[in-house]
Amino acid sequence: MPNVTFQSPLLHKNVTVYAIAGDTSTILSVADANKIAIPHDCRDGECGSCLIEVVTLSGKTMGSLLTEKEKAQLKSLGKITAEEIRLAEVEDVAPKYRLACQYIVRDQDILVKFSGEPGGA
Ligand code: FES
Repeated sequence: MPNVTFQSPLLHKNVTVYAIAGDTSTILSVADANKIAIPHDCRDGECGSCLIEVVTLSGKTMGSLLTEKEKAQLKSLGKITAEEIRLAEVEDVAPKYRLACQYIVRDQDILVKFSGEPGGA
């Protein structure tokens, strides 16, 4: 079962929760279910307010599939390069920044960092 650890100035300490591998929950859904307030608005990859930084803690470093909306939004925020997109799509290498509403939990332990400011991972 993958562990998702949330780290933010909004939290007194890091919070680790267990996600269900193979589930199609997004990081934002997992956060909601555990009352962790990642800023968000559209929940559809279009506003960029749910920007997070993701660090792989254990398991293979792999990217959860980038949706077209996520790629476009991260590019417009200046948070992903064409090379990072290529590495994610061709070699399954996780990019540093993601959108919590688009990132589907995979079977790996990750650290999710967010500042608490919309779009300010
Ligand atoms: Fe708008 Fe995620 S909530 S992009």
